[in-house]
Amino acid sequence: MNNPVFAATASAPAQVTDRLGRPLRDLRISVTDRCNFRCVYCMPKQVFGKDYQFLEHKELLTFEEITRLARIFTHHGIEKIRLTGGEPLVRRNLERLIEMLAAIPGLDLTLTTNGSLLAKKAQALKAAGLKRITVSLDSLDDAVFMKMNDVDFPAAKVLDGIAAAAAAGLAPIKINMVVKRGVNDAAILPMARHFRASGHILRFIEYMDVGHTNGWRMDDVVTARQIIAMIDAETPLEAVDPNYRGEVATRWRYRDGGGEVGVIASVTQAFCRDCTRARLSTEGRLYTCLFATTGHEFKPLLRGGASDADIGLAIDTIWHQRGDRYSEIRTAATAPLQKIEMSYIGG
Ligand code: GTP
Ligand code: 5AD
Ligand code: SF4
Ligand code: SF4
Repeated sequence: MNNPVFAATASAPAQVTDRLGRPLRDLRISVTDRCNFRCVYCMPKQVFGKDYQFLEHKELLTFEEITRLARIFTHHGIEKIRLTGGEPLVRRNLERLIEMLAAIPGLDLTLTTNGSLLAKKAQALKAAGLKRITVSLDSLDDAVFMKMNDVDFPAAKVLDGIAAAAAAGLAPIKINMVVKRGVNDAAILPMARHFRASGHILRFIEYMDVGHTNGWRMDDVVTARQIIAMIDAETPLEAVDPNYRGEVATRWRYRDGGGEVGVIASVTQAFCRDCTRARLSTEGRLYTCLFATTGHEFKPLLRGGASDADIGLAIDTIWHQRGDRYSEIRTAATAPLQKIEMSYIGG
């Protein structure tokens, strides 16, 4: 290769940066587009109903294909892999994939789940080599939680899953709560109280205009600033430095030592400037932004005999051309664009 951008030395692989100087560091791999929940902000029933055509099994990347890609990605900057869905734990034998990925040296391997199958699977996930986990939970109040997941799933079962994950030694455990105004904003303080001093890290996510089916309006967003002010008024907080550059969540610590909470302010305080994330869909398309409208096909390369070097070059080329910064340029006019769905790309 003559292009200096891709020049590698014998000892260190090349590190490509994108048009805004951002390296590639995190890969989020969606392992299924299916989910057993129908969260109103993600997979509304009117769209994801009985007739919805999910991907067929033969369209999905196999575990071998995912692992091969993951290995190549680690030679092109990736240090963290997060498995997502839909709901990743509904993919059969996911433990096997975790075992295969856990064999890649030096990788921070984690997973985001709705927690519904965690009580059953936590031990096996840990045994397969998973280190930590993130669980989504939007309220402790069943009336509210069921209204959000829209399949009558009780909060207590997610709490059982979290307890099983803790007992299995998955740590740290992070809890993600999407806040939608008028729906679950009353759950902010009860959730903060519940997880305070639990050792788990609760993070509040501003409701985003992902996909194009959730009918997002700015009025539905409770801002990170408002969320922190509410908690701080009850139990004083202080800001904490990020764990690493480009961390998505802004961290806050209880002044009395009760642990920490985070806010993910993608709408009101965009963090595109340090965004090092790429997303791989279940069927092998690579997206360079959560709000992308198009992706790059890797399945034809994987199934068409491409070498690791060919695939590596494709990764570098795509990343080098990347200029995404959707959250920084979001307006009311961009919200209805035909963006990929969160359930397809995993958040
Ligand atoms: P760790 O720091 O590794 O624990 O993970 P994380 O903070 O990246 O957390 P996680 O993957 O759980 O992300 C939490 C939520 O933040 C996601 O579910 C999304 O809603 C949102 N999010 C994550 N990455 C991005 C991103 O690149 N852009 C935007 N707009 N939102 C993101
Ligand atoms: N806005 C913010 N976060 C969302 N998630 C799903 N849809 C949205 C949205 N519209 C979150 C889920 C979960 C993760 C996969 O993405 O709550 O934590
Ligand atoms: Fe499923 Fe997660 Fe989407 Fe809810 S947010 S429908 S649990 S993928
Ligand atoms: Fe990254 Fe796109 Fe999210 Fe900005 S909007 S942080 S570029 S994924």
